[in-house]
Amino acid sequence: MINRTNVSRREFLATTSTGVAAAIAASPLAGAGLLNPKAGKLACSGGQPVRTKGWPPWPVWDRTAEDEILAVLRSGNWYRGQGTRVTEFERRYAELLGARSCLATASGTTALITALHTLGVEAGDEVIVSPYTFVASYNVVFMLKALPVFADTDPETFTIDPAGLEERITERTRAILPVHILGLPVEMDPIMAVAGRHGLVVVEDACQAWLAEYKNRKCGLLGTLGCFSFQNSKHLPAGEGGAVVGNDEALVDRCHAFHNCGRPHGSFSPPGNNPVRGVNFRMQEFQAVILMSQMKRLEKDTQLRGQNAQYLTSRLQEIPGIVPCKLNPGATRAVYHLYPFRYKKEFFNQAPRRRFLEALGAEGIPCSGGYGPANKDGLIEEALNSKSYQRLFSKERLDRYRQETVLPRNDQLCGEAVWFTQNMLLGTRQDMDDIADAIEKIYGNRDKLT
Ligand SMILES: Cc1ncc(COP(=O)(O)O)c(C=O)c1O
Repeated sequence: MINRTNVSRREFLATTSTGVAAAIAASPLAGAGLLNPKAGKLACSGGQPVRTKGWPPWPVWDRTAEDEILAVLRSGNWYRGQGTRVTEFERRYAELLGARSCLATASGTTALITALHTLGVEAGDEVIVSPYTFVASYNVVFMLKALPVFADTDPETFTIDPAGLEERITERTRAILPVHILGLPVEMDPIMAVAGRHGLVVVEDACQAWLAEYKNRKCGLLGTLGCFSFQNSKHLPAGEGGAVVGNDEALVDRCHAFHNCGRPHGSFSPPGNNPVRGVNFRMQEFQAVILMSQMKRLEKDTQLRGQNAQYLTSRLQEIPGIVPCKLNPGATRAVYHLYPFRYKKEFFNQAPRRRFLEALGAEGIPCSGGYGPANKDGLIEEALNSKSYQRLFSKERLDRYRQETVLPRNDQLCGEAVWFTQNMLLGTRQDMDDIADAIEKIYGNRDKLT
């Protein structure tokens, strides 16, 4: 382990090779020979790995859910129309977040479609979306036959840069869809200000941000509506599942109607009690039972992930060329669905990120490079060339869309990011030390990486 002294990470942020060498040489750690600990041969070159133990498993269940699952099974009331569990989960999840209303859905994807449709996003509209995200965040816009318009990412925070939003607005723009990606709260105030100036609605993709907070307010309740995912890998898992939350009960009633085949619900009863356009995006009773059992551990797990992430950051920020993610100024609680940092190859003998990931994996630390650039996803051209997009948007608009979708800072982030999965953050402090020690070892052997 590097003997930590008070060295500023800023000293290492020069980007030219001369600057890098100078920054490393200038470090007091370098003088003491401490930045080159040579903790043995790299495991990818046949040395001993830093770690051979596994990592905490996910998801984790306990016996308390079993009786309830059996009770639902034996009752035959598996559908929410006959049971009580989905409604009970909605009440409890709303209470947990401090929301006036919650609608449970079949998944995060269906929650997003429900929110966007209910807020009036129609074929031919445009929605401004974060480009550093999971494919579902922009696929839902395509499913509504609208155009996802990407605004660039701030690579330091991994989230959308609000400064680039306004220039993307056209007369067709209807909504903004910021994503609290990896559990990192987006800087929401400037986004809400842009939305207010242009009469736009805001749907927060909080599918990775259960209990995350911006200015001490829960993510998902900052915009017009917020959406969550409860898929298997998530902090609140049920195999599949999702939710729409909001403080406008009448609006969530309309979401309910849409998700239940367009049937009137609560305060929403259209003239003549006619159904409206709708789908079946309902959650099953079994999912709700699992979610209520998983909810019992969510706060404690979230605290542990937060403490471990903070400790890991304190160690990683001392390693040249490793840049932990910076939280937005208003982010009061990040929940780390993934732990992210950036890898600067200039500090690692120009070794490509792929080599770093291989070396780290070989040391017993599972890791990945995360998302690719959404704006270059093949599905975009497929959509733009489809019959419906050719009908709905002018050739001039689609050509301009292609030209404008150049996002250099998002590209940079997609090339530099490294992630650890959330279950690793449920480990011990020693587990975090293993991660940092392995990276220090690779840094010490950087001349053998390429
Ligand atoms: C950011 C983001 N948005 C949307 C989704 C879609 O959620 P689901 O997989 O539950 O449909 C996910 C799920 O992985 C996600 O991570």
